[in-house]
Amino acid sequence: MSGKPVILIVDDEKNTREGLARALRDEYAVAEVENGLRALEWLETRHADVVLSDLRMPGMDGMALLSRLLGREPQPVLILLTAYGNIETAVEAMKRGAYDFLAKPVNLDRLELLLKRALAERRLGEENRRLKAQLDSKYGFENILGTSPAMQEVFDTIRQAAPTRATVLIQGESGTGKELVARALHQCGPRAQGPFIPVHCAALAPTLLESELFGHEKGAFTGAQERRRGRFELADGGTLFLDEIGEIDAALQVKILRVLEERQFERVGGTETVSVDVRLVAATNRDLKKMVEDGAFREDLFYRLYVVNLTLPPLRERAGDIALLAQHYLETLAKEHGRKVAGITTEAMDALAAYPWPGNVRELRNVIERMVVLGAGEKLTVRDLPSSLRLAAGRAASAARPGSALRDAERQLIEEALRRHKGSRTRAAQDLGISRRTLHRKLNEFGLRNPQDGQTKEGRRT
Ligand SMILES: Nc1ncnc2c1ncn2[C@@H]1O[C@H](COP(=O)(O)OP(=O)(O)OP(=O)(O)O)[C@@H](O)[C@H]1O
Ligand SMILES: [Mg+2]
Repeated sequence: MSGKPVILIVDDEKNTREGLARALRDEYAVAEVENGLRALEWLETRHADVVLSDLRMPGMDGMALLSRLLGREPQPVLILLTAYGNIETAVEAMKRGAYDFLAKPVNLDRLELLLKRALAERRLGEENRRLKAQLDSKYGFENILGTSPAMQEVFDTIRQAAPTRATVLIQGESGTGKELVARALHQCGPRAQGPFIPVHCAALAPTLLESELFGHEKGAFTGAQERRRGRFELADGGTLFLDEIGEIDAALQVKILRVLEERQFERVGGTETVSVDVRLVAATNRDLKKMVEDGAFREDLFYRLYVVNLTLPPLRERAGDIALLAQHYLETLAKEHGRKVAGITTEAMDALAAYPWPGNVRELRNVIERMVVLGAGEKLTVRDLPSSLRLAAGRAASAARPGSALRDAERQLIEEALRRHKGSRTRAAQDLGISRRTLHRKLNEFGLRNPQDGQTKEGRRT
């Protein structure tokens, strides 16, 4: 390809086409076709920087061509040529995403100016997009934050799998970002402009789920008053996300297997075979392999889904990402709740990093939200942490670094709890989310004597 920008001229009048082509040939690489349909064919195999199209043409007109061009990547700039009397339509086209329009007969000076401006803006736009993408990728990918090596691997897999139609199985504990990854797979691929249809398989009873997925014909069952398209049909040209796939029953497993193998199915109560072009992404927080071994999940379906495997690591295995996520949520949630939060103390951050996060990123988000909303001072401190977290973190930190600020905080926490519960160790322990035995050990460790705890009461359960 030459270095010249490529311009595709679309007009049913041969004279107009040739006149324009002649005027532009010096500075641009010019191609000509006679209607919208031909333009799309041409664009199937080649790229144009600008499409210069007549508005009124037999076959596919300029407006229809516009709607087919929108969302193409990279999207050509569309400039419309319009006869007098068609200005309103041209304005409407601009609202929908055309770059500009020119009245016919075309003033060539104006056309050249318009082309220069459009191409300059386009270059600028691309540059900005590239810079932004670079910025994003420093802390993660799409909306997925993470700089840990484990997450980098996840990003690599997304990058490789997104452009394909390969089925992806996303596995990971609850709250690790499976849905987020499913959306990124869709968003970074050629189907981004198509629909992304999520289905939460565990939320519906098996028969309902079946008609939800495959649709039904009128009269297929009581209450089926008309034909309804299912999610597979709705996802045509896009991505179907089957969340919690481990929960579907044996009968549906067979049906989904068939769609994966043949890309076709029948609606419930119907005989007509429906074909779809759907990319399937599935997710589960169950150990699907184990379910296969136990006979709870079909092996053939498992391998159909397992073409690309994406396993999201739990947050505790990538503690390095905790600070990044916490900081991110701190900023966004403070804004959302209209709170001014200057930051988070090192001790509090240490506590977050030491906690095992059974609910993963979702739990982290909730904890930060609570802290932002309830936080007392400018900066979030250990005191703003939920008590279970303070203590769990305290335990880890005191084991690692005796005498640290966390250890002090832990001690303070225990004292407070005992005071609150008037010396009742059972209730204090409950409040702190630790066992009575642990509390006892802590008291010894810190050399704390409960004032109301006489020798005689030592063994008594309060
Ligand atoms: N790496 C990440 N970066 C930013 N946000 C994240 C990340 N991982 C998860 N989240 C956020 O955490 C929350 C939970 O994520 P998501 O719903 O994708 O989890 P999940 O794995 O589907 O959980 P479940 O199994 O419970 O459905 C969402 O608010 C999501 O935006
Ligand atoms: Mg989910």
